Amino acid sequence: MPRGTLLTGIGELVTNDPTLPGAEPGPLGIVRDAAVLVEGERITWAGRAREFAAGDSDLEVVDLGGACVIPGFVDSHTHLVFAGDRTAEFEARMRGQTYAAGGIRSTVAATRAANDDELRARLRAFVAEATTQGTTTLEIKSGYGLSVDEEERLVRLAAEVTPEVTFLGAHVVPAEYADDPDGYVDLVVGPMLDACAPHARWIDVFCETGAFSVDQSRRILEAGLARGLGARVHASQLGPGDGIRLAVEVGAASVDHGTYLTDADVDALAASDTVLTLLPGVEFSTRQPYPDARRLIDAGVTVALASDCNPGSSFTSSLAFCIAVAVRDMGMTPAEAVWAATAGGARALRRDDAGRISPGARADLVQLRAPNHVHLAYRPGVPLVEAVWRAGARLG
Ligand code: NIG
Ligand code: FE
Repeated sequence: MPRGTLLTGIGELVTNDPTLPGAEPGPLGIVRDAAVLVEGERITWAGRAREFAAGDSDLEVVDLGGACVIPGFVDSHTHLVFAGDRTAEFEARMRGQTYAAGGIRSTVAATRAANDDELRARLRAFVAEATTQGTTTLEIKSGYGLSVDEEERLVRLAAEVTPEVTFLGAHVVPAEYADDPDGYVDLVVGPMLDACAPHARWIDVFCETGAFSVDQSRRILEAGLARGLGARVHASQLGPGDGIRLAVEVGAASVDHGTYLTDADVDALAASDTVLTLLPGVEFSTRQPYPDARRLIDAGVTVALASDCNPGSSFTSSLAFCIAVAVRDMGMTPAEAVWAATAGGARALRRDDAGRISPGARADLVQLRAPNHVHLAYRPGVPLVEAVWRAGARLG
């Protein structure tokens, strides 16, 4: 049994670690003619191949033939535990109808009607679909249950496939509480949080007109924080509001969407540790305006890209697609977009073992059928993932 695997013959290695010896200047920390040593689940060495000193160690050597290798994508925002389908809603939207959060309730009805095995099988199929496309870290939210037992079921199922589980009982107010939204908030911060917190790392709330007010959202986030969960927020998706500043105020790891941003939002984000996670799949499939990532990055905001994979607003699990749209329509350079979908996602999940290829990181790597990272935007819709390693294991 060899001590580890040396991946060599890497034409362009995106490390996201500019401190690595041999790395070119810039956030991607690109090393050319590179090699990576994987031992067990971890990366123990990365750099210029000719600088690798093998010593007398017994290594399996794999030559990647000049390919580009990037860190596995970190998809920090998905809603993958659900049943049903909203094809008709999508078709209506493409005919001109606007997106409304009310569609969430139809997925709630379908999800409640599905048994554990059905939900589990679909969830695992979505995770496999994402992995094949290069995603090696995946956050998954509940939010299509909206009762104590149903939300508990969804976070429990999500926890079977990822440690990055988010309790989103505050997705929308369910029909049975339509006349008593504050009563629903009482349920979320009380028995629902009690049931879900043991399975979750994060709490999230949809802070938007038609979902939860700023005061309700603050109450929900503070209850989660008091239970030791980290905070994340859905905000400014359907219009401008105070959700971004609330996220900054409570120290959320990430605030997501940001389709409609004010100058005050941008200033608050730039002065904070809160990541803004942009979700290009949403604007793509709801025909809303794309946010101006250029303005955000130039102002000093840390930007991540995620899929928001869900049956309503963005039914894609492809981070490569999100990168292509972010470059084409949101003013990001290919380098910024690749960083945002890897290191940016890791920041949004406060993970320092993901989103980089350097010693100590988990060995999550993607070999592209391409000579450089620009191809992810330059060749939209083309499956460029040749091979994926997750925690040191080659998948597929
Ligand atoms: O992130 N904004 C709220 N939730 C989802 C949409 C969910 C749905 O339409 O089913 C989102 O876009
Ligand atoms: Fe979402």
